[in-house]
Amino acid sequence: PVIRREDYKPYPWIVSETHLDFDLGLDATRVVSKLTVARNAKADPADTMRLNGDGLELLSVKVDGEVVNNWRMDGDDLILPLSSDAHEVEIATEIDPSANTQLMGLYASGGMLCTQCEAEGFRRITFFPDRPDVLSVYTVKMRGSAEQFPVMLCNGNEVATGEEEGERWAEWHDPWPKPSYLFALVAGDLVSNRGTFTTMNGREVELNIWVREEDLPRTDHALESLRKSMKWDEETFGREYDLDLFNIVAVSDFNMGAMENKGLNVFNTKYVLADQETATDADYDAIEGVIAHEYFHNWSGNRITCRDWFQLSLKEGFTVLRDQLFSQDMQGEAVKRIEDVRILRAAQFPEDSGPLAHPIRPDSYREISNFYTATIYNKGAEVIRMMRTMAGPEKFREGTDLYFDRHDGEAATCEDFVSAIEDGAGLDLKQFRLWYSQAGTPRVTVAQEVVGDGLKLTLSQEVPATPGQSEKKPVPIPLRLAVHSRANGATGPEQLAVLTEAEQTFEYPLAGPDPVVSINRGFSAPVRIKRDVSQDDLAFLAASDDDPFARYEALQELAVGHLVAVASGDRSDADRAAGEDALAKALGAILTDDALDDAMRGELMTLPSESYLFEQMDRPDPARIHEAREGLKATLGTTLASEFHALYDRCEAVPFDGEGARGARKVKTQVLTYAAASDPAKAAELAAHQYDKADNMTDRQGALMVLCGLECPERTARLLDFYNRYKGNALVIDKWFTLQALSLHPQAIEHVKALAKHDDFTLRNPNRVRSLYMAFAGNPQAFHAADGEGYRMLADLILELDPINPQTAARFVPSLGKWRKIEEGRAEKMRGELERIAKAGNLSRDIYEQVARSLEG
Ligand code: ARG
Ligand code: ZN
Repeated sequence: PVIRREDYKPYPWIVSETHLDFDLGLDATRVVSKLTVARNAKADPADTMRLNGDGLELLSVKVDGEVVNNWRMDGDDLILPLSSDAHEVEIATEIDPSANTQLMGLYASGGMLCTQCEAEGFRRITFFPDRPDVLSVYTVKMRGSAEQFPVMLCNGNEVATGEEEGERWAEWHDPWPKPSYLFALVAGDLVSNRGTFTTMNGREVELNIWVREEDLPRTDHALESLRKSMKWDEETFGREYDLDLFNIVAVSDFNMGAMENKGLNVFNTKYVLADQETATDADYDAIEGVIAHEYFHNWSGNRITCRDWFQLSLKEGFTVLRDQLFSQDMQGEAVKRIEDVRILRAAQFPEDSGPLAHPIRPDSYREISNFYTATIYNKGAEVIRMMRTMAGPEKFREGTDLYFDRHDGEAATCEDFVSAIEDGAGLDLKQFRLWYSQAGTPRVTVAQEVVGDGLKLTLSQEVPATPGQSEKKPVPIPLRLAVHSRANGATGPEQLAVLTEAEQTFEYPLAGPDPVVSINRGFSAPVRIKRDVSQDDLAFLAASDDDPFARYEALQELAVGHLVAVASGDRSDADRAAGEDALAKALGAILTDDALDDAMRGELMTLPSESYLFEQMDRPDPARIHEAREGLKATLGTTLASEFHALYDRCEAVPFDGEGARGARKVKTQVLTYAAASDPAKAAELAAHQYDKADNMTDRQGALMVLCGLECPERTARLLDFYNRYKGNALVIDKWFTLQALSLHPQAIEHVKALAKHDDFTLRNPNRVRSLYMAFAGNPQAFHAADGEGYRMLADLILELDPINPQTAARFVPSLGKWRKIEEGRAEKMRGELERIAKAGNLSRDIYEQVARSLEG
């Protein structure tokens, strides 16, 4: 069935209290739930109560202490007649956590028990109104083997514990009313890295990072990240933590990154565990960002939750923005912004232009798990960031203060958020609300003309049609811009142009002759910019724009223009040489610019990805994109060989924790990737050397990545060394799978097939599945093999994984959904695989929805 936003109705019952009693066992857990319910005066009256369930064995139902048999089932839901205004409902169920391979609800992972309830997992634990607008105060008692479950955790505070005859019990109480998706329970043999944090009003909070004993030495960074997040949220958003205890548990079997359950966050180990030997600089940053994200949800998500799942971006878009701003402050604004834009373009733009396009506040869905998307999360964050840009940070803060104040304790809507920002920040967001209802990435065309001593800028916009939305209206697009002069090198002041019409003109003073426009600075709006701009102007911006993002963007634009032309086959040899020349000059200037720090240099050195180039073209052949990009790398590597080597030598001399060491490590591996294209023998030697003398995972992984793409003896030896060195460390073995699946090696597809049969490969662990197959789907050369073998492999995976873990399986469908955008031969093969999946019997709702939409769109 299709669920529609317009059908929302408040739940007819208020569940003021929920008492849960767990008899814990890995193979059988009994759950008794006691609900205190009363009629909801604000809803249409009902004489029944609908309790959602999923895969539960029902043992008994009592109303007001008496066993009743007048209930019935409606599909998976239990319908219970209730005659009076207030009742006590008691339901007993039994579940088998070790048979729960979907990893939703209560499941077993490496001998421990843990939960994942968002979005609809609680119904796999007990019958309940499993919807985010039913808030209840939870008291939980659990008991089980003291040997198996020496640690028992739940939301809120521990009230009492005890142990008799090998059986342990614990009682927990969470004073904050919450929806069922924020419930969590963990029981197992865990140890904690304990710390404290004193809040702005002097509340002492105990912090714990719970892991298996052997992982304890890798938890300091997570704990430190948590402290920084708590401090930052007080300083930047005025948000203080509201319990005496904050627990984080790391679990190795987990569908997503992490989960913000009240007072008991559950994390994928990937976003907790780190040390110098096993985690890269990027891993450290990702951990800091995800810890912050989940912590920030305590206000944006938990204290104020969502009325229904169509409002998901209310908590996710806002929380992503909050974690991005935090990471900008911790890690450096320019580089973090470039990374976030790269993610948006790689993951969200394709979504917005493909068959699965949806607005940040969707109108309908079949399976909500399919809507935990880059659109809801990352575009959602961009939309709120635009409000912040238009209001300015101080006014925006007044808006968020009003939002937190006005809706604390409620299940709110996106509309509530926009109104609060409107009132608190003093913005008029009437037209801006279209960003919530329209899908598709707007295209902005820029034309400029000198008129007297001013520049006339004509901006026009178009929002493309998306499935189910053929007509679009113009949206407000805030563009930070400046008008520089190429002739005298002067930079103009920054302006904010808000384009609200289909076409509009703006006028700005000139900074001197030969005006060059720097536009969408800082990526102030999530749009595509189209303009005619000369290579000289782009080279000027790349070398001297005062906005670091604009420098990056100019270099990208220069490379995209060249590569798209080469890959489409409409560059003459002379034009091609001229384009390479311009890029070599621009990149050469970056390599030797002493004023740049290496972290930024590393970003500027990164060529646009093949998938980004793919997006810029009309039904391209991915093989030609690959050839064009590798060809350019080879040329640049040769032309700039001495600059690259000088840079490598300088960076190599920086010690692990020396000044600018992280940037130096990034640059080193970048240099190796150019060398791999231009001088493979030399690259193999350099990479093997970097691998052998590495004292950290960033250098080692970077070197192995480069070696993986080369046909050389160093490759085999280092891959074997890496495996043996880290055998038994699941997160690092994941890297070992990923590096091979992502590699530029011509036989990568054969390697993936062999790895799928490796003893360490399993479909039961989402991290391992993703480490092989997400990497493979992101390796254009392998995945888009002209004979369609890559598509067949992915379809096979989807069919095999669906009965085990539909949520994770569904994540692979979008890769096949690109069929309408690729050249005809491959399009036919991709569509064929989608149809093969569609024809298979017994598909999950997750796969059914994604495949149907991919074929229709
Ligand atoms: N709320 C979590 C986060 O933003 C994501 C959990 C999603 N879980 C799911 N099963 N879809 O970090
Ligand atoms: Zn989130």
